[in-house]
Amino acid sequence: MNFVEVIARKRDGSELSADDVGAFVRGASSGQVADEQLAAMLMAICIRGASRGETRLLVEAMRDSGALWKTGEAFPDAVDKHSTGGVGDTVSLVFAPLVAACGVPVVMMAGAGLGHTQGTLDKLAAIPGFRTAGSRAEAFDHLARCGAFFAAQSQEIAPADRKLYLLRDVTATVPSLPLIVASIMSKKLAVGARRLVLDVKCGSGAFCKTPEEARALAEALVGVGEGAGVAVAAMITDMSQPLGDRLGCASEVRAAVEVLGGGGDARLRQLTVELAADALRMAGRPRSAALAEVERALANGSALARYGEIVRAHGGDPDVARLPRPRRTIPVGAPRDGFVAAIEAEALGWIAVGLGAGRQRQGDQVDLAAGVKVQARTGDMVEAGQPLATLELGERPVDVETMAARAAAAFRIADERPPAAPLVIARLGGAA
Ligand code: URA
Repeated sequence: MNFVEVIARKRDGSELSADDVGAFVRGASSGQVADEQLAAMLMAICIRGASRGETRLLVEAMRDSGALWKTGEAFPDAVDKHSTGGVGDTVSLVFAPLVAACGVPVVMMAGAGLGHTQGTLDKLAAIPGFRTAGSRAEAFDHLARCGAFFAAQSQEIAPADRKLYLLRDVTATVPSLPLIVASIMSKKLAVGARRLVLDVKCGSGAFCKTPEEARALAEALVGVGEGAGVAVAAMITDMSQPLGDRLGCASEVRAAVEVLGGGGDARLRQLTVELAADALRMAGRPRSAALAEVERALANGSALARYGEIVRAHGGDPDVARLPRPRRTIPVGAPRDGFVAAIEAEALGWIAVGLGAGRQRQGDQVDLAAGVKVQARTGDMVEAGQPLATLELGERPVDVETMAARAAAAFRIADERPPAAPLVIARLGGAA
């Protein structure tokens, strides 16, 4: 098959056949289709969209591009968790030890940074010595010993998503419902947990900017999961400002450890508690008991202790003092007195990427120390000059003045306090 003809069909709006999708996905995982052709196809799908049938073909072909781990057969209670991607979204690093400490095994097939969002795999890379589980045997060993594993797409599992994910990151082809559904659900189904908790982000820092887009994405994800026999609990959650107060790899690991220690950012803590309680509800606990158990694990130190066990099992050092630190910090002050009326979370995410916390080209080295600390949240009253954010600089040379000006512009200051937005906007599937 001449792959140029397949790209042309999608470019011109035709529906892809099973053979077309197979050629695309096989070409991605085997390396037989060139990167520029894969990227052209991704852009064509991004612009033209894909039908429900094409999306299902993509999910299945990408799932079957590597091994099926069938985790649910060996660990029927295991729960998987995934976010559609946001800014300051450090939930997975808290969720895994927290839920494991409550006795429910956690499967984490995580991703690297995507577009303006920072990914769990990059954050884990900031922990000295941390290695994601490289094989099914290693992952299952971690699961049996410490109740959780972190793994990545690889040549063994979900290789098509591994390739396409890296290309989407640097070709502005992330915000596409069919591509997001195929990426997330192919690797969830390849790992094969029987329960899945989904956090579908909505707002300025998400790939879905409107509630309608987020609902369509959530329904598509739940539909694919339930169609494959997976119990799915999904929440649509607010991403109209960064979730936590830190963006960047090492910084987000510190933020996670703070929450696990019983303190930390209130919004990050609240959402993680909600998602963790859903995981426990799927394992049969009533909602009030689930919430109480999660709160207890944060308060009595068992979640933090479990974090140490999980990190050590993956070869890492859980001592936060050993995380990379920024070389220099630049405060960004409020231009005037007023209320923070809105935060352009995507703009802050791109600033973090520009500082080095993400990739601009395939193969870029992520600067683990770089990031942005968010010091004012929507609704806060601020005085002129008060820090809205602090840029944390690593090794990458950057135009500090431009970055600081862009960061200041990401905060809209107004005379009136805006109405408070709920953190959990809607629940679908098993969480409804
Ligand atoms: N997470 C993924 O794994 N893939 C996407 O496309 C978006 C979020």
